[in-house]
Amino acid sequence: MAEQKATNITWHEGNVTREEREKNLGQKGCTLWMTGLSASGKSTIAVALEQVLLQRGKHAYRLDGDNIRMGLNKNLGFSAEDRTENIRRIGEVAKLFADAGMVTITSFISPYRKDRDAVRALHDAAKIPFIEVHIDLPIEEAEKRDPKGLYKKARAAVAAGKGMGFTGVDDPYEAPEKAELVVPSHKQTVAECVQVLLDALEKRGLLKA
Ligand code: ADX
Repeated sequence: MAEQKATNITWHEGNVTREEREKNLGQKGCTLWMTGLSASGKSTIAVALEQVLLQRGKHAYRLDGDNIRMGLNKNLGFSAEDRTENIRRIGEVAKLFADAGMVTITSFISPYRKDRDAVRALHDAAKIPFIEVHIDLPIEEAEKRDPKGLYKKARAAVAAGKGMGFTGVDDPYEAPEKAELVVPSHKQTVAECVQVLLDALEKRGLLKA
């Protein structure tokens, strides 16, 4: 985790409570953190869930791996250090969105358990609900899908003796041990996966103030 660098800074409290914000919005801010291999369906499920929530008059916002890497995190690559910084920044951004009252849906591989646990701890400390969702697609299925041709590229790089540091091929993916939800995306339709997530939000009372 990054260390506090600046000195001589003081937290400035606002006058609006999270409860007031949530009452205005008719929902509770939270983070739904999806983790899983590339091509597991995280982004597809996130897009569908966001749409359903908005159709229901709820406020949701997606933070997506590839997208965020084109802006906020454009200076980060895929080394272990950069992946950790990627997730640290997104964890902080998700916490801010959730604090603002959004149902925040993140879709990042987030391959390292310690990084996801750090994001969870950040939310716990702020008393913001954090729901970790493992989009659980076996690597063989992910390779069959390979929508961006990246598994093929990674296998070729490994065969050529170079490697590519691609998650699941020659870079690790540490599956969650205590995820609130495990969604096997090869056994359910996108709509069914979305329903599981909606049920989880409803069960926790997050879709009402
Ligand atoms: S994470 O590991 O830091 O959480 P993130 O979710 O932001 O990754 O980005 C993953 C996406 O970047 C993949 O879906 C894929 O499209 C692309 N990508 C490019 N190179 C790699 C790589 N070496 N490992 C994993 N994903 C990669």
